[in-house]
Amino acid sequence: LRSSSPGRAGTARLQARHLDGDAAGPDSVDGAGNRARDGKRLSKTRFQVPEAKRTGAFVIHVERKSRDRFELRDAQARLDEAVGLTAAIGLEVISTNIVPLSRPVPGTLIGSGKVEEIAAEVRALEPEVIIVNAQLSPVQQRNLEKAWNAKVLDRTALILEIFGERAQTREGRLQVELAHLTYQRSRLVRSWTHLERQRGGFGFLGGPGETQIETDRRLIGERLAKIRKEIEEVKRTRGLHRSARKKVPYPIVALVGYTNAGKSTLFNKLTNAEVMAKDLLFATLDPTMRGLRLPNGRRVILSDTVGFISDLPHELVAAFRATLEEVLEADVILHIRDAAHDETEAQKRDVEEVLIELGIEANDDRPIIEVLNKIDLLDPEEREGLLSHNGRKSAVAISAIDGDGVSDLLSRIERALGKSEVRFRLTLDPSDGAGLAWAHAHGRVTERKDRSNKLVLRVSADPQDAERFRHRYGKGLSVEQEGAAR
Ligand code: GTP
Repeated sequence: LRSSSPGRAGTARLQARHLDGDAAGPDSVDGAGNRARDGKRLSKTRFQVPEAKRTGAFVIHVERKSRDRFELRDAQARLDEAVGLTAAIGLEVISTNIVPLSRPVPGTLIGSGKVEEIAAEVRALEPEVIIVNAQLSPVQQRNLEKAWNAKVLDRTALILEIFGERAQTREGRLQVELAHLTYQRSRLVRSWTHLERQRGGFGFLGGPGETQIETDRRLIGERLAKIRKEIEEVKRTRGLHRSARKKVPYPIVALVGYTNAGKSTLFNKLTNAEVMAKDLLFATLDPTMRGLRLPNGRRVILSDTVGFISDLPHELVAAFRATLEEVLEADVILHIRDAAHDETEAQKRDVEEVLIELGIEANDDRPIIEVLNKIDLLDPEEREGLLSHNGRKSAVAISAIDGDGVSDLLSRIERALGKSEVRFRLTLDPSDGAGLAWAHAHGRVTERKDRSNKLVLRVSADPQDAERFRHRYGKGLSVEQEGAAR
């Protein structure tokens, strides 16, 4: 990786190496004669440089000076993130650049001098694609493509491309496609072979040209209508699943966090699952759920969700609202943070902003537990300091890889859920084996006293289950403590 940007090029280099590792795979040719690399279709482009000569991506971060939201993050960190995103779609980063921008230029976003300077570099490097880490208008994108004679993807297109590749479930794929088409409807610069292919990777990187724009416009309209109908149908089914789940009312514990914070690693650690956990941005796209038994015997459902990122394209926030509905339904939210990341504070703020957008406020009644992950990467003193505060401070420090602090986290989840439990004493006839089995199936029996003519149990249960106990046992039951209202 060559870097024409000042500062911490080392980080970018590291990430680019990850990309090489993940992207290994033989080239092949598909039925239409398009070269596919790493499972990705790279079809003919409308640019003059023969595709065979083009390799890799040139990543440009545009640093807008006037926006105060950049204060927390430095430009190099933003560039590094864009390099990581580029890696996530299996492109090799061959050069990077940071373009400071005080006043956006309507036609090209960046000034003509910079456009020229970059054009010279593009001529020398012949990258397959130029990633501009900024939001480009359709006109700006087209003008830059003309000036550089190369494909240009902006941040939204890049993230959509990643999401397109990662979505596994039907709903995830439909939502990404909806987001993508909505985004692309305004640009109509290429045709979308994906309409036929029905696969992830939505063709920003491919497409045979602009000859069919009118047909495409009509196709897009039809496809959008169809997707909306299909999403409605999937949603209805999901609603049915959710109400079925409510009949087995295990509390839901949702993991949220900035992309790459370690959500899937923690999910796997806790549930022995094998959710893809990679040093790859947005490795998990579709929400994944697994049952988990807490040390006190309480069953919960753990839900892994899509990672958040700063400046999440609004098309995607809308598209993923439904997927993130699981978070809205959660009884406890774990906000997983990469405590070893330079930008950890900025990432925290970004996640909180998305949560607010979803309707989850910081002063929400529902418990949000902050989890400081990756403490194994901190120096030993800092790590020990954080661990020693686990019982007392509001955040819980863990290493999802080593397992340090994970038992503290489980106790914290128990405590958070305990607030919503109802505790009561239940008196049964000693011969009532069926009643005893029922109590075990619907609550947690925390104590059992066998008297000569009666059996006294102490039970904790979720409010819905407590209602069932009340209904079934009426007088035989005395409530000791109602859970705190949520
Ligand atoms: P997205 O799917 O992008 O949202 O990522 P995620 O939050 O699910 O992160 P994931 O679990 O995929 O982990 C990202 C990278 O961080 C992987 O390379 C993990 O091995 C690494 N990682 C996760 N937890 C830890 C940890 O506690 N310590 C260290 N050293 N690395 C970790």
